[in-house]
Amino acid sequence: MTSFVIEGGEPLVGHVRIGGAKNAALPACVASLLTEDPVVLHSIPQLRDVSTILYMLGALGKRVVRHESNVSVATGGGLKPEANAYSVGQMRASFLVLGPLVARLGRAVVPLPGGCAIGARPVDLHLDGMRSLGAYVEEREGVVVVSAKKLVGATIHLPFPSVGATEQITMAACLAEGETVIHNAAIEPEVMDLIDLLIKMGAQIAVSDRMIRIVGRSSLGGAEHTLIPDRMEAGTLLLAGGITGGSVSVSPVVPEHLGAFLLALRAAGLDVEIDGATVTARCVSRPIGIELQTSPHPGFPTDLHPPMAALLTTAKGTSWIAESVFERRFAYTESLRKMGARIVQDGKMISIQGVDRLIGQFVEAPDIRGGAALLLAGLAAQGRTVITGLHHLDRGHANLETKLKSIGARIERREEAT
Ligand code: EPZ
Repeated sequence: MTSFVIEGGEPLVGHVRIGGAKNAALPACVASLLTEDPVVLHSIPQLRDVSTILYMLGALGKRVVRHESNVSVATGGGLKPEANAYSVGQMRASFLVLGPLVARLGRAVVPLPGGCAIGARPVDLHLDGMRSLGAYVEEREGVVVVSAKKLVGATIHLPFPSVGATEQITMAACLAEGETVIHNAAIEPEVMDLIDLLIKMGAQIAVSDRMIRIVGRSSLGGAEHTLIPDRMEAGTLLLAGGITGGSVSVSPVVPEHLGAFLLALRAAGLDVEIDGATVTARCVSRPIGIELQTSPHPGFPTDLHPPMAALLTTAKGTSWIAESVFERRFAYTESLRKMGARIVQDGKMISIQGVDRLIGQFVEAPDIRGGAALLLAGLAAQGRTVITGLHHLDRGHANLETKLKSIGARIERREEAT
């Protein structure tokens, strides 16, 4: 069993370098399926999810060369339409191969996805989108078989601005005949980064408000692209400074990507300074309770809700968090309660009554961002916290303990025989 052992209570102070965004890297890797030419990506984070998607591309017939944070994906022995069940079971983002495979080969066979247990997370919007583009969709015992002689552009209204469905439909529409318009599309920075890459590959895409207009091409070419910095890693590390009464700066970041989050940090009493691609958050006094609601970008990101909740457990007064994106995002609250936090859940909302201090405990990370919340709590808590379930944290955070140690955290990764 692998665990983090944290001796809490040290104020974290210093600067941390932020890596490329996981949730931009995954669709960018998948976009390489849309072309026979090489796609070269820089700033690829060293994460298990990235290895999973690259392994999957290799199994689909791509030739993948990875060196540190650079990846080149080129044509290998010919593209296959069947996705590997193991990869899709590991991670929901692998389902994104569906659209590009149908667009290139006229057929895709993809198992239904796995990933973080933060809600039902169906793929109906992905499949409805493919149907709108003229594909025939069959579901057989946990496997989706999608076929189309050709994809034809369509007007699609998403009932919810789903990140994955927007990425799926956009990629497929790049090689469809005619024009596709997606209304109520997701406009998360990671979606915009994928669109930047697709445009470099020759796609014709225009975005205005929540509408994405794609004019299909018969083929796309290769491209070279540097991923955007990971706003979730940046936010989590800024909170590590805040919750421990310290001061942490992060770079490179795109401050606009962190807009609603930085507003919430300021509302909680942290001193936030933006200087170009560097953001610093200083804890000048005990944070104060705030109210926030998660929502699609540009709202407060659901992925930063659990780490933000960790900060608020020791804030002065009461905080409220309403979760409007994922119904089961509160799994982390039980462990925080064990550490002394006073959290009450009522449906999609929690209230947090700030306590003076948290107490170190044995806890288990329930998912990537819930794990980050427990880690932050452990850094601030009195005494020793042991966190298991690190496979979740490792999916989303590269070299986490090294980065935290560099700003003063007392954290060790332990491997123990079970
Ligand atoms: C992406 O997931 C991210 N993952 C998630 O990051 C992130 O939390 C989420 O967007 C929201 O920002 C990647 O980019 C790889 P959605 P995705 O489709 O695409 C419902 C992390 O920790 N929905 O926008 O799966 C769904 O159930 C993670 O890094 C449908 O009902 O999110 C959810 O309630 C985990 N049907 C809501 O929409 C569908 O077909 C938002 O999901 C698709 C989604």
